[in-house]
Amino acid sequence: MTEPLRVGVAGLGTVGASVIRILARQGKSLSQRVGRPVRVTAVAARDRTKDRGGLDLSGCEWFASPVELARSGAVDCVVELMGGADGVARDTVEAAIEAGKDVVTANKALLAKHGLALARAAEARGLALAFEASAAGGIPVVKTLREALPANAVHRLYGILNGTCNYILSRMEAERCPFEVALREAQRLGYAEADPTFDIEGYDTAHKLAILTSLAFGAEIDAEAVYVEGISKITLLDLAMADELGYRIKLLGVAERTHTGIEQRVHPTMVPKSTAIAQVMGVMNAVTVDADAVRELTLIGPGAGGDATASAVVADIADVASGLRRPPFGRPTDRLERAERAPMQRHEGGYYIRLAVSDRPGAFAGIAARMAEAGISLESIVQRRSEAAATQDPHGRSGAPVPVVLITYATEEAAVRAALEKIGADGVIAEPPQVIRIERE
Ligand SMILES: NC(=O)c1ccc[n+]([C@@H]2O[C@H](COP(=O)([O-])OP(=O)(O)OC[C@H]3O[C@@H](n4cnc5c(N)ncnc54)[C@H](OP(=O)(O)O)[C@@H]3O)[C@@H](O)[C@H]2O)c1
Repeated sequence: MTEPLRVGVAGLGTVGASVIRILARQGKSLSQRVGRPVRVTAVAARDRTKDRGGLDLSGCEWFASPVELARSGAVDCVVELMGGADGVARDTVEAAIEAGKDVVTANKALLAKHGLALARAAEARGLALAFEASAAGGIPVVKTLREALPANAVHRLYGILNGTCNYILSRMEAERCPFEVALREAQRLGYAEADPTFDIEGYDTAHKLAILTSLAFGAEIDAEAVYVEGISKITLLDLAMADELGYRIKLLGVAERTHTGIEQRVHPTMVPKSTAIAQVMGVMNAVTVDADAVRELTLIGPGAGGDATASAVVADIADVASGLRRPPFGRPTDRLERAERAPMQRHEGGYYIRLAVSDRPGAFAGIAARMAEAGISLESIVQRRSEAAATQDPHGRSGAPVPVVLITYATEEAAVRAALEKIGADGVIAEPPQVIRIERE
């Protein structure tokens, strides 16, 4: 196999430009490794006149239309690096498969929504649909799940899959600065978009989790089944309480096989400080896999950034050049399980519940009674005199709400929700409760 692999790159932004630079830099070593030259022969982007930092596009045919690039006879492998679940990215990938081209993409939104249909189409034509860069950027977690763990039944997978959120939480914890300040800093440093909703409200993590869940459990991708909560309501008080109780707060994506089906959830999570994942700070990502043979495996690395993400894209291009065509989700699509969705209400685990309790007689006894009625056992209760109470009335009650934190033993989400609804109706709390799930080791 000495014919060059002719690569068409659709999208010349952060990742696309890095892919082209790395292929130029590593070209010789790559061709020795895969046994043939790898050449970028075609590119597409929106604006041909844009300054791309001296990116060398000589020898590449320019396509104004990525779909035309995908259909071009001058391309064997289409690398989609534009983004978006639908529109031009989907059209390009579909056109490439229809035209018999192997596809490499970093597009988690596209895969989360159309991954199964695209995998079926690629499989029917014996083509590659490779997406190492789509989840956790530079961490080779897709290959690890798809190729390195066939001896294992995976019980649970969890990860820090969004560097923006991890940066914000790390910064809040280290510098005791509020969420809004940490977010502004993340935006200033280019870690967060001008509109950060997609990252901070957990949707980006949900897309990546859906991809990893399919690979880990051999199940059809089901992004709509993911329960999603973001980090925007995490306060400095929660971080301080977590610290006091031996935890850190991370935005985790968690997938677990339970007796009610596969649970997929994204939410701020208390993780014991002793765990590997709790040590992961700043923009870094991490994924932990709990499986029967390997026990626990944690991969840590850069989850985003041009070169780190391009590292994963180029690994996929190398596979295509070597003629490796694995089923995209680890097994043929008709052998992927259509798994039951485990409802969030049936989730079982420990909970951190912070209440702003009215400083009046009987309020706390009423709360304890509601928890007991719902069958919830409390592991610990931490009561903090509020600053207002401490300053206004050092001798007794001030009427200002008092922060009370309850840590529960393992209990069902439905029981927690029911108890909190009753506590709210009793009129003993001054603001909506803060609920953070605790992830066991
Ligand atoms: N950035 C990361 O760290 C990272 C990490 C993991 C995965 N990813 C994924 O990688 C993909 C690319 O991300 P990115 O950060 O490189 O994006 P980006 O910097 O915004 O670049 C997008 C590129 O796509 C081109 N494009 C957009 N719409 C187009 C259209 N209709 N026709 C032709 N070209 C079009 C743009 O052209 P112009 O340059 O002319 O505007 C630009 O070159 C996304 O799926 C993203 O989720 C990114």
